[in-house]
Amino acid sequence: MVEHPEASEDYVIDQGWADYRAEDHAIWRTLFERQSRLLPGRACREYVAGLQGLGVAAEGIPDFERLSDIVERATGWRIVAVPGLVPDDVFFRHLAARRFPATNWIRRPEQMDYLQEPDVFHDIFGHVPVLMHPVFADYMQAYGRGGLKALHLGALPYLARLYWYTVEFGLIRTGEGLRIYGSGIVSSRAESIYCLESEKPKRIAFDLMRVMRTQYRIDDLQESYFVIDSFDQLFAATRPDFTPYYQELKRRPDIAPGVVLTSDRLVSAGVAHGGDRPRQRGARGRTDEALDRIAAD
Ligand code: PHE
Ligand code: CO
Repeated sequence: MVEHPEASEDYVIDQGWADYRAEDHAIWRTLFERQSRLLPGRACREYVAGLQGLGVAAEGIPDFERLSDIVERATGWRIVAVPGLVPDDVFFRHLAARRFPATNWIRRPEQMDYLQEPDVFHDIFGHVPVLMHPVFADYMQAYGRGGLKALHLGALPYLARLYWYTVEFGLIRTGEGLRIYGSGIVSSRAESIYCLESEKPKRIAFDLMRVMRTQYRIDDLQESYFVIDSFDQLFAATRPDFTPYYQELKRRPDIAPGVVLTSDRLVSAGVAHGGDRPRQRGARGRTDEALDRIAAD
């Protein structure tokens, strides 16, 4: 479908919306319905409101042009099609210009539960709803600008961790309990359950330097999540000039995923789903077993 991606400097291609087959749209609808059922009470209200504002997305793989018209009216962002992952500088330049680069291919039926590489379902269903939120929309643009700067300073690995542990795998604390805002979680059935209900992963209060020191894994469910209190908190924490932070980070050792430091503030998973009622051990064990099965297939 993609003839010469390198021919265009920004890697933008035509989405080729008319070329999707009925079975591609059917895969989208299956994923969409499944996640829509799972996410109330798990995804944060900002995400759910954003998704509701994107009505067209329920019918099948959305046409990026139509979708962009809606998002642009809300926050000035547009979605552009790219052929999979693009070079870092290209990615950052798009974000800095309030353009979200989304891949146009959709997974195969045998990949319904877990993917390592983003497809159109992840990129759109995962990322676009939060781009409807004004503060998150500004955060993503600031991230793009920060990315260009980090490239220049040779600090990209640190900044990439911030993206990973916020944009992709972030959790947020609310009055009703822990909720998901990370795109990599909301587009994954297994991780939407696991991140809130499993006893295995660590849930650590967000701390900018702690996050930027923490390595991550791209091939499995996360071993640690970082929890913010609000998008405002996230935006405020990332506002300062990172140049001195990067210098400091280069002097300090990385932290492996899943490690807990004595200085970490752990956030209890028991707060999830609003209850302060204690969880039953037996019920927890069964949830973990069910999750292992989902994650394994
Ligand atoms: N404040 C960061 C810098 O000076 C830029 C940034 C903003 C990075 C938001 C990430 C998120 O580099
Ligand atoms: Co993503």
